[in-house]
Amino acid sequence: MQNLFRLPFHIGGFVVRNDSGHIDCVSMDNSLAVPGARLNTIECHCIPPFVTERLFHRLQASSSALIILKPVPRHGRFCTVAICRTYVMDGIQTPLDKKDIWSDAGTTRVPYQIYQNPEIYAEELEHIFYGSSWNYVGLECEVPESGDYRRNFIGEREILMIRKNDGSISVVENRCAHRGAQLCQGLFGNTGAALMCPYHQWTYTLDGELTGMPFKRGIKGKGGLNSDFDMKTRGLTNLKVEILNGVVFASFDHDVVPLEEYLGPDMMQYFTRIFDGRGLRVVGYERQIIDCNWKLQMENLKDPYHAGILHLFLISFGLFRLDQESKCLVDDNKGHSVLMTIKDSEEGNEDTGGVRIAAPDFTLTDHDLIQPLLEFGDRISLSIQTLFPSLIIQAQCNTLATRHVLPKGPGSHELVWTFFGFEDDDDAMNDRRLRQANLMGSAGYVTLDDAEALEFSQLGLAGSPEDEVAVLEIGGKDCESNDHLVTESLIRGFYMRYRDVMGHGKAIT
Ligand code: FES
Ligand SMILES: [Fe+2]
Repeated sequence: MQNLFRLPFHIGGFVVRNDSGHIDCVSMDNSLAVPGARLNTIECHCIPPFVTERLFHRLQASSSALIILKPVPRHGRFCTVAICRTYVMDGIQTPLDKKDIWSDAGTTRVPYQIYQNPEIYAEELEHIFYGSSWNYVGLECEVPESGDYRRNFIGEREILMIRKNDGSISVVENRCAHRGAQLCQGLFGNTGAALMCPYHQWTYTLDGELTGMPFKRGIKGKGGLNSDFDMKTRGLTNLKVEILNGVVFASFDHDVVPLEEYLGPDMMQYFTRIFDGRGLRVVGYERQIIDCNWKLQMENLKDPYHAGILHLFLISFGLFRLDQESKCLVDDNKGHSVLMTIKDSEEGNEDTGGVRIAAPDFTLTDHDLIQPLLEFGDRISLSIQTLFPSLIIQAQCNTLATRHVLPKGPGSHELVWTFFGFEDDDDAMNDRRLRQANLMGSAGYVTLDDAEALEFSQLGLAGSPEDEVAVLEIGGKDCESNDHLVTESLIRGFYMRYRDVMGHGKAIT
C-alpha cells in the first residue's frame, strides 16, 4: 500500500490505490469495514451507490488518490459514509489552498468545506479560539467566594475561572504542568487556598504558579527533582483576563487588544444596555449537544430571515415577525452584530406577514409568557448580540441568557445557556424570567426548532463535492447595518471577519 498519511482526527476511514493498482480500503472504525478489505466489501456494507460512483470517478481520474471518508451517524449508528476530503497525489500530498476555497463572490458564497473539513477545523481552533480573540468564560457572580471555580472551554481547551483570595479573577488552563492530568472535574467547585492535582499532588497558586510537589528532594537525598528544575517555568497556562460589568472574558494571547477596543463602540453600547453594571445573579443553566458545526449555530443567531419563517410559535403570537420594526447592526470589523425588534400585536393570527401558521385556533392561557416588561429604557422586546467568535447575548422579553458555543469537532458543538437576572430583581420579576425561560433552551417553545434545523443542515451538506457552496444573497451582497429583517448581511459579515482571522484572503464586498 502506498501514500499513507497521518490522518486528521474525526475521520472514519480512507481508501487508497495500492501498488498493484487495486483499490484497498482501510478503516479507523470497526463499524465501517474490516481493515484491508476491498472497496467492494465496504461498498456493500456502508457506502451508498452514489458515493461509490464518485469514489471510482475520482480514483480513475488520477494515478493515485487518497479519499478520506467520514461516517455519518444516523439513529445512533454509523450506517452511511460521506466523502470528506480527496487528495490527488503525484507522490506528494496536495495541500488544501484555504484562499482558493472562497470564490470571488466574497462572502455571498460559503464553501461547505468549512463546516466539515478537519484541517480547517484544527486551524479555526488555533487561529480563532487560541489566537487573538476575547472568549467568554462566565459571569463573575458564578464564583462569589475565594477559591470558587467554574470549569469551561475555550475552543476545545479546558479552562478554570477562579476567584482569588484578593477578590480578583484568574483564568488558567485545567491541565497539570506535570503530566497533563485534569485538575478540577466539577463544572463548579471550590479549590480551597490552592490548586492541587489529584494525581501526584503538584500544587499551584490560584494564578497557576507552581509552588510545590511531594518528595521534591526525594528521600534521604535520593530521587526527586534535580536542583536545576525551574519551578517558575512550570506553572499552568495563565490567560489574560478582562471583566466587563460582571462578564468575564479571557484570551490565550496576552498581547490581544483591550476588550473595549475589541468590541468597538457600537457593540459596547448594546453590551452595556443589558450588562449595565448592576449585580448579576444566575437563574439557571441548560446544556445541549447539537450535531452541527459551531459556525452554523453562530449563523443561526445572525439570521433573522429564518426566525420569521421557521418559528411558528414566534409568528403565531406576534413575538417576532419579519415585518416588525427592527434594526440589524454590524460592527466595523463585521464579526460582531446585534439584531433587535419591537413586539407589536400579541394576536398575530390576522397578520402574520404572509407566513403560514400551524394552528390558527391555538391560544395561550398564560399571556405573561410572552409579555415583555420593558426594563432597559427603550421599546426593544428582543435583542440578540453575537460577539466573535462564540458568544450570544440574548434578551427575549424578560428572559436573559448568555449562549456559549463550544466546538466539539467539525460536526458537533455544545451550547451552554446561562439564564441570568439582576441582584435587585424582585420576586415577581424573577418569576417572570423563569416563566419566559420556557421560550428558550433545548426544549424551548422557540429554540426547539433551531437545533433540529441545524442538524438537518449538517446532514445535508455532508459529502458535498469540494466546490459546493451555500448561497447568501438574501438582502443583497453587502455586510452593512440595516433596518429590516429579510437579510443575511450579518452572516456575510461574520465570514468577512472569519476570513481575515483565518488568513483565507480578503473578502470582497
Ligand atoms: S499529573 Fe498532575 S501531579 Fe502528576
Ligand atoms: Fe431560531
